[in-house]
Amino acid sequence: MKQIVITRKGDASVLKIGEAPDAKPGKGEVLIRVLASGINFADILARQGLYPDAPKIPCVVGYEAAGTVEALGEDVSGFDKGQAVVALVRFGGYSDVVSVPANQVFAKPDSLTFEQAAALPVNYLTAYGLLVAMGSLKQDESVLIHNAGGGVGLAALDIAKHIGATTYGTASGSKHGFLKERGLDHAIDYRTTDWLSVLLDLTRGKGVELIIDPLGGGNWKRSYKGLRSTGRLGVFGFSAAAGLGLANKLRLLKELAKIPRFFPLSMMSSNKGVFGLNLGHMWHENAKIRKWSDAILQGVNEGWVRPYVDKVFPFERVAEAHQYIESRKNIGKVVLVP
Ligand SMILES: NC(=O)c1ccc[n+]([C@@H]2O[C@H](COP(=O)([O-])OP(=O)(O)OC[C@H]3O[C@@H](n4cnc5c(N)ncnc54)[C@H](OP(=O)(O)O)[C@@H]3O)[C@@H](O)[C@H]2O)c1
Repeated sequence: MKQIVITRKGDASVLKIGEAPDAKPGKGEVLIRVLASGINFADILARQGLYPDAPKIPCVVGYEAAGTVEALGEDVSGFDKGQAVVALVRFGGYSDVVSVPANQVFAKPDSLTFEQAAALPVNYLTAYGLLVAMGSLKQDESVLIHNAGGGVGLAALDIAKHIGATTYGTASGSKHGFLKERGLDHAIDYRTTDWLSVLLDLTRGKGVELIIDPLGGGNWKRSYKGLRSTGRLGVFGFSAAAGLGLANKLRLLKELAKIPRFFPLSMMSSNKGVFGLNLGHMWHENAKIRKWSDAILQGVNEGWVRPYVDKVFPFERVAEAHQYIESRKNIGKVVLVP
């Protein structure tokens, strides 16, 4: 089988196509012929040696794939050979064949292409966990989505619009037109303006009830300040860490030093809360993940879950795909096809 291997820590050129013996389905597993693999920011951090959950390099990353059922392992029922499916994969998604525990595999909605289906699992489950399961966003509340134009960002926007909340989003200015078309109420260019001042101006000094923040470092402190009473801050990433070389290491150390400490007594006095979410640490909570997935798949049927694929790259051009995301050009999802 064909795989994309992170051969060593480094820039996108360290990604190489490799051959490996064909995967076989183990007990309780479904073997999937992959037709589309989702790229996540975590894959880029893994390649840069900055993602603690990644397998040891050399490795094959990839958290999600869509394709057809090639074979079923012992004790697996409920799937047919040739059936179109989408799966959460604990690495190895950057392969043309992958074997996955059956409880992480879902029927692909007919209305979605394989590329769109590959854009569903990580982005929408993360956004659902942040906005619904942990953030408890309500119709009469407001939410600030950082990196609203990214994969998780657009998924969060779909869910927030469905709930009926007022939406604020930070993103590079070039993405604002698209975000408004997708229904974002207030776009903030966090790269050229002080996003916190803009948010406070827009909310007449109040702030919002929910902020989801994957930037990390000092941004978490500022996000906490952007919460109004009863506000919740959901932290779920450290994009600020991305980059290579000595200068980046120094910048990263500075960001680590800026991580705020949250004290129960001061949270109680200010009526604010902080929570964290890491989908990659939820493998033991399959029942919850399946419940969240059911809600997302229902959203696909009802039309409010709209996975947006910006670009599709063949495996051979994976380096370009990673560079496209690293240079912040992507709107929504970037997908690989074998
Ligand atoms: N905890 C979890 O379970 C979980 C799950 C999925 C993702 N995440 C995290 O959520 C974040 C978004 O992930 P994603 O996969 O949806 O990616 P994404 O948002 O599509 O990532 C790319 C976008 O991030 C923004 N960005 C911010 N800082 C950046 C930097 N230093 N370098 C490059 N781009 C940067 C850029 O958009 P603009 O600058 O235009 O906004 C860029 O277009 C990441 O931090 C990821 O690790 C966490």
